Amino acid sequence: MCGIVGYTGKNEAYPIIIKGLKRLEYRGYDSAGIALMKNGINLLKCKGKVADLEHFIGEKDHSGSAGIGHTRWATHGEPNDVNAHPHRSMSGELVLIHNGIIENYDSIKKELQNRGYVFMSETDTEVLVNLIEEIKKNEVCSLSEAVRIALSEVIGAYAIVVMSDQEPGTLVVAKKSSPLVIGIGSEGDYYLASDATPIVEYTKNVVYLEDGEIAELIPGKDLKLFDIKKKAITPYIHALEMQLEQLEKGGYDHFMLKEIFEQPRSVHDSMRGRLNASAGIVHLGGMAEYEQKLLNANRIIIVACGTSWHAGLVGEYLIEDLARIPVEVEYASEFRYRNPILTEKDVVIAISQSGETADTLAALELAKSKGSTILGICNVVGSTISRTTDGGSYTHAGPEIGVASTKAFTSQVTVLSLLALSLGQKRGTIERSKFQRLLFGLNEIPSKIERALKTDDLVKVIAERFKDSSNFLYLGRGYCFPVALEGALKLKEISYIHAEGYPAAEMKHGPIALIDADMPVVVIATKGPSYEKVVSNIQEVKARKGVLIAIVSEGDTQVKEMADFTIEIPETDEIFSPLVASIPLQLLSYHIAVMRGCNVDQPRNLAKSVTVE
Ligand code: AGP
Repeated sequence: MCGIVGYTGKNEAYPIIIKGLKRLEYRGYDSAGIALMKNGINLLKCKGKVADLEHFIGEKDHSGSAGIGHTRWATHGEPNDVNAHPHRSMSGELVLIHNGIIENYDSIKKELQNRGYVFMSETDTEVLVNLIEEIKKNEVCSLSEAVRIALSEVIGAYAIVVMSDQEPGTLVVAKKSSPLVIGIGSEGDYYLASDATPIVEYTKNVVYLEDGEIAELIPGKDLKLFDIKKKAITPYIHALEMQLEQLEKGGYDHFMLKEIFEQPRSVHDSMRGRLNASAGIVHLGGMAEYEQKLLNANRIIIVACGTSWHAGLVGEYLIEDLARIPVEVEYASEFRYRNPILTEKDVVIAISQSGETADTLAALELAKSKGSTILGICNVVGSTISRTTDGGSYTHAGPEIGVASTKAFTSQVTVLSLLALSLGQKRGTIERSKFQRLLFGLNEIPSKIERALKTDDLVKVIAERFKDSSNFLYLGRGYCFPVALEGALKLKEISYIHAEGYPAAEMKHGPIALIDADMPVVVIATKGPSYEKVVSNIQEVKARKGVLIAIVSEGDTQVKEMADFTIEIPETDEIFSPLVASIPLQLLSYHIAVMRGCNVDQPRNLAKSVTVE
């Protein structure tokens, strides 16, 4: 979590950094701060969002052509002005911003306290900046050398940027386990950030810093890159493909709403060049090299967190159903610590929108150490997971800025559908005519999502009726069970209403006790093999006077008679139902959250990219 931004060059740093911080605010918004170099270092920081920082700075001097900025998701120490980054060293010479956790900060802190250092904040970051100061003083060395020596004493995860008033204009950056991108400007200037979104409008030439690398950025000079042992590294310059318009709201009130409405296009983009229904071709280029491993795998293990885990669960159903390969879906945070059995015959697939989730990355690294093949399904191009894996496929959903994942989910499910179809075809586990029917079915999904989005007005009416409820239950069976989980997650994360997703039949084993006339129950009852079973579950809800909101296939009459509200969506083959049924649930959570006055794009306590475990 936490977003970091920096600039050094001929231009004023402040507008570049503030704009960059706004782009990275999805990574945390407990506090924000900025340090600017002019005649000495000007440090400005406060609790709250970037807008609060701008307000706090107001007419205060904010000039300087080098600077660093930070937006924080608190780990050590409560969100307040003192704990906000940047942190200054005790003498005032250095300032530092940090994304990550220094695990051995306590022992380093005690050591520094013995040498007379006094700490103002509760953060691990202030310990690191003082460690660098102490080394710089003792070794009488450059800033970059002091950073290098300090990092050899540090255990943990970090992306850091340091400035010294003794080396005006120089930024020293380093990375281990937290992301950092350097942009190379055309005027000898440098940009840096936790991801490429603050950089894209200035330059398309970027270097993704690798773990253990340190860089010295001096305007007008070549980028100097080296490792912790001082070995020089030649930077590899990537060309960014991201477009600036993708980062704007485009007339919508919130990024989340824009991203919900983008899904016909984002799902289409996930299939583009991979599916040719009339020719009977499905092909995932990034996985092709590992196709034999997948086809012959003992097991496929999917690791992920949150919404990506829900997509993974749909993936399990798809791959087992169509390709008959055993699949396990694991919470990355549990998997990495439970001593799982892994062999070279296992293929581990990580699913992650950001490609930076710390637990998912650690689960992959564990699998790699056991000799398993590791693949990724990521959205952010160039992200750490996409660079760590042996191979994989991007979802091509475009930047997702709203903290609540929407289009990333449907794109992940689309890629998993393509994977399952491709494996099933190669293994001969799908009948030819069914295969062809499914390809055409998948091809039609973007237009069916388009139609499902037309339920928006009706969903708004339903949201108005239930916006003050305290609890919701979401039920689904088969492919729609993960949709129930995802619908409940969406509601709780942005509207702060307690919601639970459950397999419809499991309701009788506990949650049925909760049902009364005040409890809205959302049931996904689309046409498919489980339809009649879901109808029975609906009767059980109605018998307990539960208030029923049903998602049904267009033209349904049976459920309509029983439900208090029905939302009709286009019928699909059962295996693609999550792609369409999730749409009204996203809209329902969105409208309820707006009606309750919640901050939809930046819900409390959350961050888009969870880079701490
Ligand atoms: C989704 O709405 C959540 N914000 C969250 O559960 C998210 O899906 C999870 O943190 C995983 O993130 P990733 O896909 O970037 O790895």
